[in-house]
Amino acid sequence: MSLKDKIDKAHLPKHVAIIMDGNGRWAKMRGKSRIAGHKNGVTSVRESAEAAAELGVNYLTLYAFSTENWSRPKYEIDALMHLLLKTISTETRTLNKNNIRLAAIGNLDLLPRNIHNSLVRAIEDTSGNTRMTLVLALSYSSRWEITQAVKKIAEESRQGTLDPGLISPSWFSSYLTTSGIPDPELLIRTSGEQRISNFMLWQIAYTELYFTGVLWPDFRKEDLYEAILDYQQRERRFGKISEQLNANNS
Ligand code: FPP
Repeated sequence: MSLKDKIDKAHLPKHVAIIMDGNGRWAKMRGKSRIAGHKNGVTSVRESAEAAAELGVNYLTLYAFSTENWSRPKYEIDALMHLLLKTISTETRTLNKNNIRLAAIGNLDLLPRNIHNSLVRAIEDTSGNTRMTLVLALSYSSRWEITQAVKKIAEESRQGTLDPGLISPSWFSSYLTTSGIPDPELLIRTSGEQRISNFMLWQIAYTELYFTGVLWPDFRKEDLYEAILDYQQRERRFGKISEQLNANNS
């Protein structure tokens, strides 16, 4: 019996986010270049997108490149950008075949022009798909995202168009690059590291965190099922007590 059959389809997380980590270590363990780790990571991207869509998850967000990743050696950045370009151009057809919409969050203006153009094209080409949204976090960091939101708000305030009475958490969310995307219910980080690394700090206020020692290039459908099963065993209280939840459920 696959772990998939044990998943309660009525209580799936609507949005799963993944911090894909461990490509470099995976490659090092095999005496290969870090780039080989990233290349093998593409198979895991494909597997997790397929598994999430098959289950009925509505949003899958993958942290593919952080603002801080721009500080990596140039050859690694170039290889990652090349891989991204290649993956976007080869996978758009598969996304359409599987009715998956592509979206991207982050400081996309920093991406090389050819990557930016092909990303925008793929987003447009898949915009009519409805089964799942695959969100790529590219050149993304939460502090950048929150700072750019505050800048926009400050500008509105300067122009006198801001009504402080309207300010609320959901209002603030509308200034983030994730506007329109529900907060993730489950955040997975691979490779055994247990930190958030500047990812969706605002959005994960009540997200369940799941850490696995599996290195990203080894991550397969069963690993996603395992994370979702773990999530389904948790009690999400949102600040309330157990008895209140049970009373609401009865
Ligand atoms: C983290 O591993 C991984 C990345 C920074 C890049 C993730 C990119 C891919 C999986 C390939 C392309 C992605 C898409 C969406 C097509 P690391 O390099 O930090 O590993 P380490 O911590 O072991 O060094």
